[in-house]
Amino acid sequence: MGTFIPWTDQICIGIQEIDEQHKQLVELINRLYDAMTQGADRQQAATEILQELMQYTIVHFAVEESLFRIFDYPDYETHRERHQQLRDQVIDINKRVQAGERLITPELLFFLRKWITSHIMVEDKAYGPFLLAKGIEKNWRRTSWLGRIWPGARR
Ligand SMILES: [Fe+2]
Repeated sequence: MGTFIPWTDQICIGIQEIDEQHKQLVELINRLYDAMTQGADRQQAATEILQELMQYTIVHFAVEESLFRIFDYPDYETHRERHQQLRDQVIDINKRVQAGERLITPELLFFLRKWITSHIMVEDKAYGPFLLAKGIEKNWRRTSWLGRIWPGARR
């Protein structure tokens, strides 16, 4: 795990399936930071990571929204609207970067850090106790598919 956004209890929901996905998002932003500060071809590497961040954000939000529907989460609509805003932001940034705009700057990194951590700490933390009370598994009992796709993922 990188150091730009350290993984702490503050951003931990307490449901392993979700926490591991959040770790992937955090790690992608950490990788973006590393690419920006250390890489040889910084803009190129950062452009690729940003594309991955956008794709994984879409997947992750879809997973959360489907859990909310399955468990009939009362704040579904509000959370989904928030996802829509966050998704639009990362899609827009990615589109502009892929089109050649040199947007990958320290300001963008600070923006993304806040973009992910405040959502996890506020909106996502709110659904943790609800899903646990509904009987969702706190811990994995089986090997995750995440590690196969992202070799850095903990299993
Ligand atoms: Fe969320």
